[in-house]
Amino acid sequence: MTAPIRVTITGAAGAIGYALLFRIASGAMFGSQQPVELRLLEIPQAVDAAAGTALELSDCAFPLLRDVNVTDDAGTAFDGSNYALLVGAMPRKQGMDRADLLSANAAIFSTQGRAIGARAADNVRVLVVGNPANTNAAIARAAAPDVPAERFHALMRLDHNRAIGQLAQRAAVAPSQVRKLTVWGNHSNTQVPDIDHALIGDRAVRECIADDAWLDGPFIECVANRGAEIIRARGASSAASAASAVIDHVADWHHGTATNNWVTVARPSQGEYGVPEGLVFGMPATASAGEWHTVEGLEWSDRTRAAIARTVADLEGERDAVRELGISI
Ligand code: NAD
Ligand code: LMR
Repeated sequence: MTAPIRVTITGAAGAIGYALLFRIASGAMFGSQQPVELRLLEIPQAVDAAAGTALELSDCAFPLLRDVNVTDDAGTAFDGSNYALLVGAMPRKQGMDRADLLSANAAIFSTQGRAIGARAADNVRVLVVGNPANTNAAIARAAAPDVPAERFHALMRLDHNRAIGQLAQRAAVAPSQVRKLTVWGNHSNTQVPDIDHALIGDRAVRECIADDAWLDGPFIECVANRGAEIIRARGASSAASAASAVIDHVADWHHGTATNNWVTVARPSQGEYGVPEGLVFGMPATASAGEWHTVEGLEWSDRTRAAIARTVADLEGERDAVRELGISI
């Protein structure tokens, strides 16, 4: 019998949680032979709703689902956790400025980081989804100094998938034909979608889509502002696509990335590409045996270099605002 993998999902009663839990339980994340246990963490007011989702999970009779536990206690939720998916966060409310938002989330992600450090399994891997995801990941990492820093990621696979979707549509090919693109930096509108090394089939994107004006303008604008476009269209932020990106990210972490490809992963910089150490920064990476390796040596155009300087400054601004709260990240 294969031992179950224990997955903790925070914000389990939210929209992303609802789109995510059933896919994990059905085997989409770890494969059709791997049993899973779910630990659902919610705030006290939303525990009943999460418990309702747990009833539905039971009613699906998923063959791989071994156990579901719902709690508002972070220690219980992260106990023995192998993968911790930090989805729940304080949303921006009317009148809140960035400092207020960072402060509310700093409290949440420090508490959860401490609980992960104290209670999770030795091999725990953490993916932060709740915004501002990159800085929240840095906060959680700082609160769990005994967990290796490279195990704390922020979700930028959604940005990566959005870029693939746009290119595939434009070139009228299947998304699986698009490879080796990168979204550098922060999961914000300063992110830098970069197609200069990307391929469609075996041809350079700029050769396949012979429209530099579109690639350097509307394409980048669309990907970088897609979150806001979805919010305008749905009246709520992306949920199913975010959940799908979480599945893709963790599946690659667990099984390894495909050969001849890389994906975008935001994890603490170790100074690669001159990015200040510790910033949780989207970069190209491959995975094997549960470890990620940054793809090094890619050259930047002048335009990309200038854009990357802006996304670095954006993240440094968030980091400095958190430091002003007395939290050292
Ligand atoms: P939602 O409001 O539907 O759900 C959030 C849930 O988190 C709620 O049920 C809430 O009770 C819970 N929560 C709040 N604080 C918590 C805490 N301290 N502990 C446990 N649970 C807590 O939001 P959603 O649509 O599911 O989105 C969740 C987060 O993901 C938001 O911050 C959103 O901006 C972000 N997001 C990120 C990406 C990305 O690509 N990184 C994409 C989409 C959304
Ligand atoms: C997204 O990219 O869809 C979200 O991060 C947007 C948001 O602000 O929730």
